[in-house]
Amino acid sequence: MSSGSMDKLRAFFQASKGQFVQKNELLALMEGNEESLLKSLKEFQKSGYLFEQEEGKLRLLAEPDYDIARNFSTSLMTEHIGQNAIFYQEVSSTQDVAKQLVSLGAVEGTLVVSDRQTKGRGRMERNWHSPGGKGIWASLIIRPRLPLEQAPQFTLLTAVAICQAIEKIADVQMKIKWPNDLLFNGKKICGILTEMINRQYEIDAIVIGFGVNINHEASDFPPDLVDKATSLSLITKKHWDRGHLLRAICEQFEKLYKIYVQSGFAPIKILWESYATSIGKRITARTVAGTFEGEAIGIDPQGVLLLKLDDGKVKHIYSADLSI
Ligand code: BTN
Repeated sequence: MSSGSMDKLRAFFQASKGQFVQKNELLALMEGNEESLLKSLKEFQKSGYLFEQEEGKLRLLAEPDYDIARNFSTSLMTEHIGQNAIFYQEVSSTQDVAKQLVSLGAVEGTLVVSDRQTKGRGRMERNWHSPGGKGIWASLIIRPRLPLEQAPQFTLLTAVAICQAIEKIADVQMKIKWPNDLLFNGKKICGILTEMINRQYEIDAIVIGFGVNINHEASDFPPDLVDKATSLSLITKKHWDRGHLLRAICEQFEKLYKIYVQSGFAPIKILWESYATSIGKRITARTVAGTFEGEAIGIDPQGVLLLKLDDGKVKHIYSADLSI
């Protein structure tokens, strides 16, 4: 497949401006060579082009956009994490794009970033507010060969990596509310959504989505979030380069990931505990099985929250929304 035919196809898609085009027209561009057309489309998808297909036709939904990438890739000091990064201007959710890439065989460390998301999502099927030009909306693909039950530990590892990166770049100390909220003075600055793709009893891939509020003014938050959320810019009264911060997140993540692979979760647990805000406090945990109150006494070696109920029993909390 020549780069000339890829260029022709790219130009054709760009000219079609998101409208459906007949596959026959594409085939004509490729001089009737169907195999070459299919290969080219697969190449486009691998490099980040998103298509919607219907019988006999398809349209371009999004193409990569490397604008916010400028200060990201220049001196990224990692072996894998973020080395294959795809930047978009707008997608529905970077989680969904990353999952598509997993099914196309995306390599370990592939990073999907979008300037804005139209359907950004959080835990418990909540929306994640993702306006353009303001935050880091990204999903990282990792493919560790580990049993399924270890996947949730990556939420905690990522939370530590983002705390360390913010500390390094902006000199601000965050707190972590189990399992995945980064807070500053009780207001949320970052959320993490970890989703797993299984291969029988093993992990095939983990897609770790993180949203960090960077350059938001108070007026950039919808009214229901104003009292609950904050941004790095509101905390420090400065504008931050998102690419620069994203690079630091990838670098810190890779360092912790290497420690995890070598020594397991124990050293990550110690770091996580040093940032934890909920431990030792009386909390309410809302889970699918009901609401429980008690003292958060720590996390177990798997990263599961231990809640001491008023009758003295210790309840293991695997997933919940906490209020402190
Ligand atoms: C939460 O706190 O509930 C998790 C929020 C996770 C948001 C990020 S933004 C990038 C990625 N794409 C999504 O749709 N969600 C995650």
